[in-house]
Amino acid sequence: MYPSTVWTYAWVFGMFLCWSSLRAGAQDLGITHPAEVTALRAIKRSLVDPNKNLSNWNRGDPCTANWTGVLCYNTILDDGYHHVQELQLLNMNLSGSLSPELGRLSYMKILDFMWNNMSGSIPKEIGNITTLELLLLNGNKLSGPLPEELGYFPKLDRIQIDQNQISGPLPKSFANLNKTKHFHMNNNSISGQIPPELSKLPSLVHFLLDNNNLSGYLPPEFSELPNLLILQVDNNNFNGTTIPDTYSNMSKLLKLSLRNCNLQGPIPDLSRIPNLGYVDLSSNQLNGSLPLGKLSDQITTM
Ligand SMILES: *[C@@H]1O[C@H](CO)[C@@H](O)[C@H](O)[C@H]1NC(C)=O
Ligand SMILES: *[C@@H]1O[C@H](CO)[C@@H](O)[C@H](O)[C@H]1NC(C)=O
Ligand SMILES: *[C@@H]1O[C@H](CO)[C@@H](O)[C@H](O)[C@H]1NC(C)=O
Ligand SMILES: *[C@@H]1O[C@H](CO)[C@@H](O)[C@H](O)[C@H]1NC(C)=O
Ligand SMILES: *[C@@H]1O[C@H](CO)[C@@H](O)[C@H](O)[C@H]1NC(C)=O
Ligand SMILES: *[C@@H]1O[C@H](CO)[C@@H](O)[C@H](O)[C@H]1NC(C)=O
Ligand SMILES: *[C@@H]1O[C@H](CO)[C@@H](O)[C@H](O)[C@H]1NC(C)=O
Ligand SMILES: *[C@@H]1O[C@H](CO)[C@@H](O)[C@H](O)[C@H]1NC(C)=O
Ligand SMILES: *[C@@H]1O[C@H](CO)[C@@H](O)[C@H](O)[C@H]1NC(C)=O
Ligand SMILES: *[C@@H]1O[C@H](CO)[C@@H](O)[C@H](O)[C@H]1NC(C)=O
Ligand SMILES: *[C@@H]1O[C@H](CO)[C@@H](O)[C@H](O)[C@H]1NC(C)=O
Repeated sequence: MYPSTVWTYAWVFGMFLCWSSLRAGAQDLGITHPAEVTALRAIKRSLVDPNKNLSNWNRGDPCTANWTGVLCYNTILDDGYHHVQELQLLNMNLSGSLSPELGRLSYMKILDFMWNNMSGSIPKEIGNITTLELLLLNGNKLSGPLPEELGYFPKLDRIQIDQNQISGPLPKSFANLNKTKHFHMNNNSISGQIPPELSKLPSLVHFLLDNNNLSGYLPPEFSELPNLLILQVDNNNFNGTTIPDTYSNMSKLLKLSLRNCNLQGPIPDLSRIPNLGYVDLSSNQLNGSLPLGKLSDQITTM
C-alpha cells in the first residue's frame, strides 16, 4: 500500500470513531431532563389551579406526554434529553406563587404567566435562565421588589411585569439588558429614581413606567436612547423638577406622555422630533411660553 492510501484509511477510520462517539453522546433518552421534571412538579405544587387546566401534569413525561402549557424543543439537545423551551400558562385563572424552581428550566426561551392571579414576589432564581427571550408576568398580583438578578439576561427581548403590585426601586442592573426592546412596568408601585444608567439600553423601543410611585428627576441622558419610540411615565411624582432640555433631541420618538408628574419649568422645543404623534404634558406646573417651533405634522393628540 502507498503511504497516502494508509493515511486515507486511517482518516476514514478516525472519522468513523468520531461519528460513533458523537452519536453515543446524542443518544435520544426519550425523556425530559430529570431536573426539569422535578422543577415542573415543584412549580405546579406552588400553584392553585381552580379550572384544573394542569391536571395532566401528573402523567407521563412533560415533553413527550404533552403536558398543558409545556412546549419543548423539537429535537433533543446534546445531553440526550428533551428540554423545556416555553412555559405558556397565560389566562388560566391560576393563583399561588412563582416557584424558585423556575430557575432550573435552564434552556427556556419564553416564560408566560400573563393574566392570572399570581401573588407573592418574583423569585430571583428566574435570573438563572440565561436563554430567556420573553418574560411575561403582566396582569397578576405580584408584589415585592424587582430582583436585580433580572438584569442580566443576554437575550431578553421583552420584559412585561406591568399591572402588578411591584414595589421598591428599578435595579441599576437592568442597564445590562442590551437586547431588550420592550420594557413594560406600568401600573405598579415602583418607587425612587429612574436609574440614568438605563439610557445605555441600545435596543429599547418602548419604555412604559406610567402609574407608579417614581420620584427624583427625569434623566436627561434618555435622549441618548437610539431607538426609543414611546416614553410613557405619566402619574408619577418627579418632585417639581423640569423636563430635560435634551428631550428635544429624541429623534425617533412617536409618543411622549408626562401627564401628572409634578414637573415644573419650561417646555422644551419638541419641534425637532419629526414623527412625534402624541404628546401629553398636562396636569403639571409647567410655565414659560410655548416654544415657537412648529410641531411635527404627524401630531394627532396633544
Ligand atoms: C382552562 O380550563 C377551563 C375549564 O376547563 C377552560 O374553559 C379553559 O379554556 C382552559 N384554559 C386554557 C388556557 O387551557
Ligand atoms: C396535546 O393536548 C392538546 C390539548 O390539551 C391537544 O389539543 C393536542 O392535540 C395534543 N397534542 C398531541 C401531540 O397529543
Ligand atoms: C382573579 O381573582 C378574582 C377574584 O379573586 C376574580 O374575580 C378574577 O376573575 C380573577 N382573575 C383572573 C385573571 O383569573
Ligand atoms: C377565577 O377564579 C375565581 C376564584 O378563584 C372565580 O371567582 C372566577 O370566576 C374565576 N374566573 C374564571 C374566568 O375562571
Ligand atoms: C442560580 O444561580 C445561582 C448563582 O448565580 C446559584 O447559586 C443557584 O444555585 C442557582 N439556582 C438555581 C435554582 O438554579
Ligand atoms: C451586550 O452585552 C454583551 C455582554 O455584556 C456583549 O457581549 C454584547 O456584544 C452586547 N450586545 C450589544 C448589542 O450591545
Ligand atoms: C393603570 O392605572 C391607571 C390609574 O390607576 C388606570 O386608569 C389604568 O386603567 C391602568 N391601566 C391598565 C392598563 O390597567
Ligand atoms: C407612594 O409612596 C408614598 C410614600 O413615598 C406612599 O405614601 C404612597 O402610598 C405610595 N403610593 C403608591 C400608589 O404606592
Ligand atoms: C422626592 O419625593 C419623594 C416622595 O415623593 C421623597 O421621598 C424624596 O426625598 C424627594 N426627593 C427630593 C430630591 O426632593
Ligand atoms: C442635541 O444634540 C446635538 C447634537 O448631538 C447637540 O449639539 C445639542 O447640544 C443637543 N441639544 C440638547 C438640548 O441637548
Ligand atoms: C417658572 O416657575 C419657576 C419656579 O416656580 C420660576 O422660578 C420661574 O421664574 C417661572 N418662569 C416663568 C417664565 O414664569
